[in-house]
Amino acid sequence: MSSNRTLIRGGLVVTAAEETHADVLIEDGRIVALATHGSAAADAWTADRVVDATGKYVVPGGVDAHTHMEMPFGGTFSADTFETGTRAAAWGGTTTIVDFAIQSVGRSLRAGLDAWYAKADGNCAIDYAFHMILSDVTDSSLREMDRLVEEGITSFKLFMAYPGVFYSDDGRILRAMQRAADNGGLIMMHAENGIAIDVLVEQALAAGRTDPRYHGEVRKALLEAEATHRAIQLARVAGAPLYVVHVSAEEAVAEIVAARDKDLPVFGETCPQYLFLSTDELAEPGFEGAKYVCSTPLRPKANQAALWRGLRTDDLQVVSTDHCPFCFAGQKELGRGDFSKIPNGLPGVEHRMDLLHQAVVDGHIGRRRWIEIACAAPARMFGLYPQKGTIAPGSDADVVIYDPGTAQILSAETHHMNVDYSVYEGKRVTGRVETVLSRGEVVIDRGTYTGRAGHGRYIARATSQYLD
Ligand code: URP
Ligand code: ZN
Ligand code: ZN
Repeated sequence: MSSNRTLIRGGLVVTAAEETHADVLIEDGRIVALATHGSAAADAWTADRVVDATGKYVVPGGVDAHTHMEMPFGGTFSADTFETGTRAAAWGGTTTIVDFAIQSVGRSLRAGLDAWYAKADGNCAIDYAFHMILSDVTDSSLREMDRLVEEGITSFKLFMAYPGVFYSDDGRILRAMQRAADNGGLIMMHAENGIAIDVLVEQALAAGRTDPRYHGEVRKALLEAEATHRAIQLARVAGAPLYVVHVSAEEAVAEIVAARDKDLPVFGETCPQYLFLSTDELAEPGFEGAKYVCSTPLRPKANQAALWRGLRTDDLQVVSTDHCPFCFAGQKELGRGDFSKIPNGLPGVEHRMDLLHQAVVDGHIGRRRWIEIACAAPARMFGLYPQKGTIAPGSDADVVIYDPGTAQILSAETHHMNVDYSVYEGKRVTGRVETVLSRGEVVIDRGTYTGRAGHGRYIARATSQYLD
Protein backbone atom coordinates (compact mmCIF):
# COMPACT_ATOMS: atom_id res chain seq x y z
CA MET A 1 0.00 0.00 0.00
CA SER A 2 1.36 3.38 -1.01
CA SER A 3 1.44 6.10 1.67
CA ASN A 4 -0.33 8.63 -0.49
CA ARG A 5 -3.54 6.80 -1.26
CA THR A 6 -6.77 8.17 0.16
CA LEU A 7 -10.14 6.51 -0.04
CA ILE A 8 -13.38 8.43 0.40
CA ARG A 9 -16.03 5.90 1.30
CA GLY A 10 -19.80 5.94 1.49
CA GLY A 11 -20.75 9.37 0.09
CA LEU A 12 -23.00 10.61 -2.67
CA VAL A 13 -20.69 11.94 -5.39
CA VAL A 14 -22.29 14.98 -7.00
CA THR A 15 -20.80 16.51 -10.14
CA ALA A 16 -22.38 18.84 -12.68
CA ALA A 17 -23.15 15.81 -14.83
CA GLU A 18 -24.35 13.12 -12.42
CA GLU A 19 -24.96 11.86 -8.91
CA THR A 20 -23.55 8.46 -7.97
CA HIS A 21 -23.27 6.49 -4.76
CA ALA A 22 -19.58 5.80 -5.19
CA ASP A 23 -16.29 5.48 -3.33
CA VAL A 24 -13.47 7.67 -4.62
CA LEU A 25 -9.85 6.54 -4.78
CA ILE A 26 -7.11 9.18 -4.74
CA GLU A 27 -3.42 8.67 -5.40
CA ASP A 28 -0.59 11.17 -5.75
CA GLY A 29 -2.95 14.11 -5.58
CA ARG A 30 -5.18 12.89 -8.41
CA ILE A 31 -8.46 11.03 -8.57
CA VAL A 32 -7.74 7.53 -9.81
CA ALA A 33 -11.11 5.82 -9.88
CA LEU A 34 -14.71 5.79 -8.69
CA ALA A 35 -16.61 2.60 -7.92
CA THR A 36 -20.07 1.85 -6.56
CA HIS A 37 -20.23 1.32 -2.79
CA GLY A 38 -19.84 -2.34 -1.95
CA SER A 39 -18.74 -3.32 -5.46
CA ALA A 40 -15.92 -5.84 -5.78
CA ALA A 41 -13.66 -3.09 -7.14
CA ALA A 42 -14.34 -0.70 -4.27
CA ASP A 43 -14.02 -3.43 -1.63
CA ALA A 44 -10.61 -4.41 -3.01
CA TRP A 45 -9.20 -0.90 -2.63
CA THR A 46 -6.78 -0.22 0.18
CA ALA A 47 -5.40 3.13 1.29
CA ASP A 48 -3.48 4.60 4.16
CA ARG A 49 -6.23 7.10 4.86
CA VAL A 50 -9.95 6.41 4.70
CA VAL A 51 -12.39 9.31 4.91
CA ASP A 52 -15.90 8.28 5.91
CA ALA A 53 -18.44 10.26 3.88
CA THR A 54 -21.52 8.26 4.81
CA GLY A 55 -24.59 10.50 4.63
CA LYS A 56 -22.54 13.30 3.06
CA TYR A 57 -22.04 14.72 -0.40
CA VAL A 58 -18.68 14.31 -2.09
CA VAL A 59 -18.34 17.31 -4.41
CA PRO A 60 -15.56 18.96 -6.43
CA GLY A 61 -13.70 21.76 -4.69
CA GLY A 62 -15.19 25.13 -5.56
CA VAL A 63 -13.64 27.31 -8.27
CA ASP A 64 -14.04 31.00 -7.46
CA ALA A 65 -13.18 32.81 -10.70
CA HIS A 66 -13.36 36.36 -9.34
CA THR A 67 -11.38 37.41 -6.27
CA HIS A 68 -9.28 40.43 -5.33
CA MET A 69 -6.68 39.68 -2.65
CA GLU A 70 -4.51 42.64 -1.59
CA MET A 71 -6.10 44.80 -4.27
CA PRO A 72 -5.26 48.52 -4.27
CA PHE A 73 -8.52 50.48 -4.37
CA GLY A 74 -9.63 53.91 -3.18
CA GLY A 75 -6.37 54.67 -1.39
CA THR A 76 -6.26 51.39 0.52
CA PHE A 77 -5.87 47.64 -0.08
CA SER A 78 -8.42 44.87 0.19
CA ALA A 79 -7.91 43.34 3.60
CA ASP A 80 -7.29 39.68 2.72
CA THR A 81 -3.78 38.73 1.69
CA PHE A 82 -3.26 35.70 -0.53
CA GLU A 83 -2.51 33.81 2.68
CA THR A 84 -5.59 34.81 4.68
CA GLY A 85 -7.93 34.87 1.70
CA THR A 86 -7.03 31.45 0.34
CA ARG A 87 -7.21 29.95 3.83
CA ALA A 88 -10.72 31.37 4.22
CA ALA A 89 -11.60 30.00 0.78
CA ALA A 90 -10.47 26.54 1.89
CA TRP A 91 -12.66 26.77 5.00
CA GLY A 92 -15.57 27.40 2.67
CA GLY A 93 -14.86 24.51 0.30
CA THR A 94 -13.22 26.53 -2.47
CA THR A 95 -9.98 24.96 -3.69
CA THR A 96 -9.11 27.21 -6.64
CA ILE A 97 -9.29 30.98 -7.05
CA VAL A 98 -8.68 33.08 -10.13
CA ASP A 99 -7.54 36.50 -8.91
CA PHE A 100 -6.91 39.68 -10.92
CA ALA A 101 -3.40 40.96 -11.62
CA ILE A 102 -3.51 44.70 -12.37
CA GLN A 103 -1.74 46.73 -15.05
CA SER A 104 -1.05 50.24 -13.72
CA VAL A 105 -1.54 53.10 -16.15
CA GLY A 106 1.72 53.79 -18.00
CA ARG A 107 3.17 50.40 -17.09
CA SER A 108 3.35 47.07 -18.86
CA LEU A 109 1.15 44.03 -18.33
CA ARG A 110 4.36 42.16 -17.48
CA ALA A 111 5.12 44.48 -14.56
CA GLY A 112 1.61 44.09 -13.17
CA LEU A 113 1.59 40.34 -13.59
CA ASP A 114 5.02 39.89 -11.99
CA ALA A 115 3.88 41.92 -8.99
CA TRP A 116 0.90 39.59 -8.55
CA TYR A 117 3.01 36.45 -8.98
CA ALA A 118 5.24 37.78 -6.19
CA LYS A 119 2.32 38.57 -3.86
CA ALA A 120 0.86 35.08 -4.20
CA ASP A 121 4.01 32.96 -4.46
CA GLY A 122 4.50 30.75 -1.42
CA ASN A 123 1.48 32.18 0.38
CA CYS A 124 -1.55 30.34 -0.90
CA ALA A 125 -3.36 27.50 0.86
CA ILE A 126 -5.11 26.42 -2.34
CA ASP A 127 -4.35 26.55 -6.06
CA TYR A 128 -4.62 29.86 -7.88
CA ALA A 129 -4.48 31.46 -11.30
CA PHE A 130 -4.72 34.99 -12.67
CA HIS A 131 -6.77 37.12 -15.01
CA MET A 132 -5.19 40.41 -16.13
CA ILE A 133 -6.84 43.81 -15.66
CA LEU A 134 -6.09 46.04 -18.67
CA SER A 135 -5.98 49.64 -17.43
CA ASP A 136 -3.97 51.08 -20.31
CA VAL A 137 -4.71 49.72 -23.79
CA THR A 138 -1.77 50.72 -26.01
CA ASP A 139 -0.03 49.13 -29.00
CA SER A 140 2.46 47.59 -26.64
CA SER A 141 -0.06 46.25 -24.10
CA LEU A 142 -2.07 44.79 -27.00
CA ARG A 143 1.04 42.92 -28.15
CA GLU A 144 1.63 41.75 -24.60
CA MET A 145 -1.85 40.22 -24.49
CA ASP A 146 -0.72 37.60 -27.02
CA ARG A 147 2.25 36.62 -24.88
CA LEU A 148 0.10 36.40 -21.75
CA VAL A 149 -2.36 34.05 -23.46
CA GLU A 150 0.57 31.77 -24.33
CA GLU A 151 1.73 31.98 -20.71
CA GLY A 152 -1.64 30.88 -19.30
CA ILE A 153 -3.26 34.24 -18.54
CA THR A 154 -6.14 33.74 -20.94
CA SER A 155 -8.68 36.33 -19.78
CA PHE A 156 -8.58 40.13 -19.54
CA LYS A 157 -10.83 42.42 -17.55
CA LEU A 158 -11.76 45.83 -18.89
CA PHE A 159 -13.73 48.54 -17.10
CA MET A 160 -16.42 50.78 -18.54
CA ALA A 161 -16.60 52.23 -14.99
CA TYR A 162 -14.13 54.12 -12.76
CA PRO A 163 -12.94 56.95 -15.08
CA GLY A 164 -9.39 57.98 -14.22
CA VAL A 165 -8.63 54.64 -12.57
CA PHE A 166 -9.32 51.47 -14.55
CA TYR A 167 -11.64 52.97 -17.20
CA SER A 168 -11.21 52.28 -20.91
CA ASP A 169 -13.13 54.19 -23.59
CA ASP A 170 -14.99 52.38 -26.37
CA GLY A 171 -12.07 52.65 -28.81
CA ARG A 172 -9.68 51.01 -26.38
CA ILE A 173 -12.26 48.36 -25.55
CA LEU A 174 -12.79 47.60 -29.24
CA ARG A 175 -9.06 47.28 -29.83
CA ALA A 176 -8.63 44.89 -26.90
CA MET A 177 -11.60 42.85 -28.11
CA GLN A 178 -10.16 42.64 -31.63
CA ARG A 179 -6.91 41.38 -30.16
CA ALA A 180 -8.73 38.79 -28.04
CA ALA A 181 -10.65 37.65 -31.13
CA ASP A 182 -7.26 36.86 -32.67
CA ASN A 183 -5.36 35.41 -29.73
CA GLY A 184 -8.12 33.33 -28.11
CA GLY A 185 -8.37 35.42 -24.93
CA LEU A 186 -11.68 36.06 -23.18
CA ILE A 187 -12.67 39.66 -22.42
CA MET A 188 -14.33 40.12 -19.02
CA MET A 189 -16.31 43.32 -18.76
CA HIS A 190 -17.20 45.51 -15.81
CA ALA A 191 -20.26 46.92 -17.51
CA GLU A 192 -21.40 50.21 -15.97
CA ASN A 193 -21.41 53.60 -17.72
CA GLY A 194 -18.80 55.24 -15.49
CA ILE A 195 -18.84 58.60 -17.27
CA ALA A 196 -22.57 59.06 -16.67
CA ILE A 197 -22.29 57.68 -13.13
CA ASP A 198 -19.63 60.25 -12.26
CA VAL A 199 -22.00 63.07 -13.30
CA LEU A 200 -24.69 61.65 -11.02
CA VAL A 201 -22.17 61.24 -8.17
CA GLU A 202 -21.16 64.89 -8.45
CA GLN A 203 -24.80 66.02 -8.51
CA ALA A 204 -25.73 63.83 -5.51
CA LEU A 205 -22.84 65.09 -3.40
CA ALA A 206 -23.57 68.73 -4.36
CA ALA A 207 -27.15 68.21 -3.16
CA GLY A 208 -25.93 66.83 0.18
CA ARG A 209 -26.84 63.22 -0.60
CA THR A 210 -23.72 61.68 0.94
CA ASP A 211 -24.98 58.50 2.68
CA PRO A 212 -23.97 55.02 1.46
CA ARG A 213 -27.40 54.34 -0.02
CA TYR A 214 -26.78 56.98 -2.70
CA HIS A 215 -24.00 54.76 -4.05
CA GLY A 216 -26.80 52.47 -5.21
CA GLU A 217 -28.98 55.29 -6.48
CA VAL A 218 -26.38 56.89 -8.76
CA ARG A 219 -25.15 53.57 -10.16
CA LYS A 220 -28.42 53.05 -11.95
CA ALA A 221 -29.61 49.72 -13.34
CA LEU A 222 -30.15 51.44 -16.69
CA LEU A 223 -26.47 52.41 -16.76
CA GLU A 224 -25.50 48.79 -16.13
CA ALA A 225 -27.88 47.68 -18.88
CA GLU A 226 -26.65 50.34 -21.30
CA ALA A 227 -23.03 49.38 -20.76
CA THR A 228 -23.86 45.67 -21.06
CA HIS A 229 -25.62 46.34 -24.36
CA ARG A 230 -22.71 48.45 -25.63
CA ALA A 231 -20.14 45.84 -24.60
CA ILE A 232 -22.11 43.16 -26.45
CA GLN A 233 -22.29 45.26 -29.62
CA LEU A 234 -18.55 46.08 -29.44
CA ALA A 235 -17.79 42.37 -29.00
CA ARG A 236 -19.93 41.58 -32.04
CA VAL A 237 -18.09 44.16 -34.12
CA ALA A 238 -14.77 42.69 -32.97
CA GLY A 239 -15.92 39.10 -33.43
CA ALA A 240 -14.90 38.36 -29.84
CA PRO A 241 -16.56 36.41 -27.06
CA LEU A 242 -17.59 38.36 -23.97
CA TYR A 243 -17.99 37.48 -20.28
CA VAL A 244 -19.88 40.08 -18.25
CA VAL A 245 -18.80 40.10 -14.59
CA HIS A 246 -20.89 40.75 -11.47
CA VAL A 247 -24.25 41.16 -13.23
CA SER A 248 -26.80 42.55 -10.77
CA ALA A 249 -29.63 44.30 -12.66
CA GLU A 250 -32.58 42.55 -14.26
CA GLU A 251 -32.19 44.88 -17.26
CA ALA A 252 -28.58 43.76 -17.74
CA VAL A 253 -29.64 40.10 -17.58
CA ALA A 254 -32.15 40.89 -20.34
CA GLU A 255 -29.33 42.20 -22.57
CA ILE A 256 -27.38 38.98 -22.05
CA VAL A 257 -30.45 36.84 -22.71
CA ALA A 258 -31.13 38.77 -25.95
CA ALA A 259 -27.54 38.22 -27.09
CA ARG A 260 -27.61 34.52 -26.26
CA ASP A 261 -30.93 34.16 -28.08
CA LYS A 262 -28.98 35.30 -31.14
CA ASP A 263 -26.42 32.53 -30.41
CA LEU A 264 -23.71 35.09 -29.65
CA PRO A 265 -20.79 33.93 -27.46
CA VAL A 266 -21.86 36.12 -24.53
CA PHE A 267 -21.61 34.81 -20.98
CA GLY A 268 -22.61 36.17 -17.59
CA GLU A 269 -21.56 35.89 -13.98
CA THR A 270 -23.42 36.93 -10.88
CA CYS A 271 -22.41 36.83 -7.21
CA PRO A 272 -24.04 35.67 -3.96
CA GLN A 273 -24.44 39.27 -2.74
CA TYR A 274 -26.82 40.04 -5.62
CA LEU A 275 -28.76 36.84 -4.98
CA PHE A 276 -29.11 37.20 -1.21
CA LEU A 277 -28.71 40.92 -0.41
CA SER A 278 -30.38 44.07 -1.71
CA THR A 279 -30.70 47.84 -1.40
CA ASP A 280 -32.41 47.13 1.94
CA GLU A 281 -28.96 46.47 3.42
CA LEU A 282 -27.38 49.42 1.60
CA ALA A 283 -30.01 51.66 3.22
CA GLU A 284 -29.25 50.50 6.79
CA PRO A 285 -29.20 53.48 9.14
CA GLY A 286 -26.19 55.61 10.01
CA PHE A 287 -23.11 54.57 8.13
CA GLU A 288 -23.87 50.81 8.33
CA GLY A 289 -24.77 50.74 4.64
CA ALA A 290 -21.07 51.25 3.81
CA LYS A 291 -20.54 47.55 4.57
CA TYR A 292 -22.58 46.77 1.47
CA VAL A 293 -20.98 49.19 -0.99
CA CYS A 294 -19.75 47.35 -4.07
CA SER A 295 -19.99 47.85 -7.84
CA THR A 296 -22.14 46.95 -9.60
CA PRO A 297 -24.25 47.89 -6.56
CA LEU A 298 -26.79 45.83 -4.67
CA ARG A 299 -30.19 46.21 -6.35
CA PRO A 300 -33.80 46.18 -5.11
CA LYS A 301 -34.88 42.64 -4.18
CA ALA A 302 -37.13 42.38 -7.24
CA ASN A 303 -34.00 41.89 -9.39
CA GLN A 304 -33.14 38.61 -7.69
CA ALA A 305 -35.82 36.61 -9.52
CA ALA A 306 -34.19 37.45 -12.88
CA LEU A 307 -30.77 36.40 -11.59
CA TRP A 308 -32.06 33.06 -10.30
CA ARG A 309 -33.92 32.53 -13.57
CA GLY A 310 -30.76 33.32 -15.55
CA LEU A 311 -28.86 30.76 -13.51
CA ARG A 312 -31.54 28.12 -14.13
CA THR A 313 -31.75 28.78 -17.87
CA ASP A 314 -27.95 28.96 -18.27
CA ASP A 315 -28.13 32.55 -19.50
CA LEU A 316 -25.85 33.16 -16.51
CA GLN A 317 -23.23 30.44 -16.26
CA VAL A 318 -21.08 31.26 -13.23
CA VAL A 319 -21.41 32.43 -9.64
CA SER A 320 -18.19 33.99 -8.31
CA THR A 321 -17.76 36.07 -5.19
CA ASP A 322 -15.93 39.21 -6.39
CA HIS A 323 -14.34 38.86 -2.94
CA CYS A 324 -12.83 42.28 -2.22
CA PRO A 325 -13.04 42.88 1.54
CA PHE A 326 -12.44 46.17 3.32
CA CYS A 327 -12.70 46.46 7.08
CA PHE A 328 -15.43 48.73 8.40
CA ALA A 329 -12.97 50.35 10.83
CA GLY A 330 -10.47 52.49 8.98
CA GLN A 331 -11.35 51.38 5.45
CA LYS A 332 -15.10 51.65 4.75
CA GLU A 333 -14.94 54.64 7.12
CA LEU A 334 -12.88 56.53 4.52
CA GLY A 335 -16.23 57.38 2.96
CA ARG A 336 -17.99 58.92 5.95
CA GLY A 337 -19.65 62.07 4.63
CA ASP A 338 -18.94 61.11 0.97
CA PHE A 339 -20.22 57.76 -0.31
CA SER A 340 -17.95 58.00 -3.37
CA LYS A 341 -14.92 57.54 -1.11
CA ILE A 342 -16.13 54.23 0.37
CA PRO A 343 -13.84 51.50 -1.03
CA ASN A 344 -15.95 49.29 -3.30
CA GLY A 345 -16.10 45.63 -2.45
CA LEU A 346 -17.50 42.94 -0.16
CA PRO A 347 -16.10 39.90 1.61
CA GLY A 348 -17.50 36.55 0.49
CA VAL A 349 -14.92 33.97 -0.62
CA GLU A 350 -15.71 31.76 2.37
CA HIS A 351 -19.47 31.54 1.91
CA ARG A 352 -20.15 30.90 -1.78
CA MET A 353 -20.46 27.12 -1.63
CA ASP A 354 -22.73 27.27 1.45
CA LEU A 355 -24.95 30.04 0.09
CA LEU A 356 -25.39 28.21 -3.20
CA HIS A 357 -26.22 25.02 -1.30
CA GLN A 358 -28.82 27.09 0.55
CA ALA A 359 -30.19 27.95 -2.90
CA VAL A 360 -30.64 24.21 -3.45
CA VAL A 361 -32.42 23.92 -0.10
CA ASP A 362 -34.61 26.91 -1.03
CA GLY A 363 -35.49 25.36 -4.41
CA HIS A 364 -33.87 27.98 -6.66
CA ILE A 365 -31.54 25.46 -8.31
CA GLY A 366 -30.94 21.71 -8.27
CA ARG A 367 -27.98 19.95 -6.68
CA ARG A 368 -26.07 19.36 -9.94
CA ARG A 369 -26.66 22.94 -11.02
CA TRP A 370 -25.08 24.00 -7.70
CA ILE A 371 -21.93 22.16 -8.71
CA GLU A 372 -22.14 23.41 -12.30
CA ILE A 373 -22.25 27.13 -11.44
CA ALA A 374 -19.78 26.92 -8.53
CA CYS A 375 -17.22 24.40 -9.85
CA ALA A 376 -17.54 23.02 -13.38
CA ALA A 377 -18.66 26.09 -15.34
CA PRO A 378 -16.03 28.47 -13.90
CA ALA A 379 -13.38 25.82 -14.55
CA ARG A 380 -14.51 25.40 -18.17
CA MET A 381 -15.02 29.12 -18.70
CA PHE A 382 -11.45 29.85 -17.68
CA GLY A 383 -9.55 26.88 -19.09
CA LEU A 384 -9.14 24.80 -15.95
CA TYR A 385 -11.37 21.83 -16.77
CA PRO A 386 -11.20 18.87 -16.12
CA GLN A 387 -8.14 19.43 -13.93
CA LYS A 388 -10.51 21.43 -11.72
CA GLY A 389 -14.28 21.49 -11.33
CA THR A 390 -15.15 17.80 -11.38
CA ILE A 391 -14.54 14.44 -9.75
CA ALA A 392 -13.28 12.11 -12.45
CA PRO A 393 -10.24 9.90 -13.05
CA GLY A 394 -7.27 12.13 -13.85
CA SER A 395 -8.68 15.27 -12.22
CA ASP A 396 -6.87 16.93 -9.33
CA ALA A 397 -8.14 15.51 -6.06
CA ASP A 398 -9.77 18.76 -4.96
CA VAL A 399 -12.69 17.30 -3.06
CA VAL A 400 -15.15 18.55 -0.45
CA ILE A 401 -17.03 16.30 1.94
CA TYR A 402 -20.18 18.35 2.40
CA ASP A 403 -22.67 17.78 5.22
CA PRO A 404 -26.03 18.82 3.77
CA GLY A 405 -28.02 18.48 6.99
CA THR A 406 -26.13 20.52 9.57
CA ALA A 407 -27.09 24.16 9.94
CA GLN A 408 -24.71 27.03 10.72
CA ILE A 409 -25.00 30.73 11.46
CA LEU A 410 -22.73 32.98 9.39
CA SER A 411 -20.93 35.59 11.46
CA ALA A 412 -17.78 37.71 11.69
CA GLU A 413 -17.22 35.95 15.04
CA THR A 414 -16.65 32.64 13.30
CA HIS A 415 -15.57 33.40 9.75
CA HIS A 416 -11.93 33.21 8.68
CA MET A 417 -11.74 36.15 6.28
CA ASN A 418 -9.52 39.01 7.46
CA VAL A 419 -12.35 41.49 7.82
CA ASP A 420 -14.17 42.88 10.83
CA TYR A 421 -17.77 42.33 9.73
CA SER A 422 -19.93 39.91 7.78
CA VAL A 423 -22.47 40.96 5.18
CA TYR A 424 -24.36 37.80 6.18
CA GLU A 425 -24.21 38.39 9.95
CA GLY A 426 -26.71 36.08 11.68
CA LYS A 427 -27.86 34.33 8.50
CA ARG A 428 -28.73 30.67 9.05
CA VAL A 429 -27.78 28.30 6.26
CA THR A 430 -28.37 24.57 6.06
CA GLY A 431 -25.27 22.61 5.10
CA ARG A 432 -21.62 22.95 5.92
CA VAL A 433 -18.20 21.96 4.70
CA GLU A 434 -16.81 19.07 6.71
CA THR A 435 -13.53 18.08 5.09
CA VAL A 436 -11.59 19.59 2.18
CA LEU A 437 -8.82 18.02 0.12
CA SER A 438 -6.59 20.05 -2.15
CA ARG A 439 -4.65 17.83 -4.57
CA GLY A 440 -5.18 14.96 -2.16
CA GLU A 441 -3.94 16.84 0.93
CA VAL A 442 -6.47 17.35 3.69
CA VAL A 443 -6.59 21.11 4.28
CA ILE A 444 -9.76 21.21 6.38
CA ASP A 445 -10.36 18.21 8.62
CA ARG A 446 -13.80 18.26 10.28
CA GLY A 447 -13.51 21.79 11.61
CA THR A 448 -9.72 22.08 11.86
CA TYR A 449 -7.47 23.83 9.39
CA THR A 450 -4.68 21.41 8.47
CA GLY A 451 -3.41 23.21 5.38
CA ARG A 452 -0.44 25.49 5.00
CA ALA A 453 0.57 28.63 3.18
CA GLY A 454 2.60 27.56 0.17
CA HIS A 455 0.67 24.37 -0.53
CA GLY A 456 -1.29 26.21 -3.23
CA ARG A 457 0.25 26.11 -6.69
CA TYR A 458 -0.02 28.58 -9.53
CA ILE A 459 -1.90 27.18 -12.52
CA ALA A 460 -1.28 28.34 -16.08
CA ARG A 461 -4.68 28.17 -17.79
CA ALA A 462 -5.80 27.03 -21.21
CA THR A 463 -8.12 29.24 -23.25
CA SER A 464 -11.83 29.11 -22.42
CA GLN A 465 -13.35 25.71 -23.03
CA TYR A 466 -16.70 27.42 -23.61
CA LEU A 467 -15.34 28.47 -27.00
CA ASP A 468 -14.16 25.02 -28.13
O1 URP B 1 -16.99 46.56 -5.77
C1 URP B 1 -16.24 45.81 -6.37
N1 URP B 1 -16.75 44.98 -7.24
N2 URP B 1 -14.92 45.85 -6.12
C2 URP B 1 -13.92 45.10 -6.77
C3 URP B 1 -13.53 45.66 -8.12
C4 URP B 1 -14.45 45.23 -9.21
O2 URP B 1 -14.98 46.07 -9.92
O3 URP B 1 -14.65 44.02 -9.40
ZN1 ZN C 1 -15.71 45.03 -11.57
ZN1 ZN D 1 -14.14 42.32 -9.03
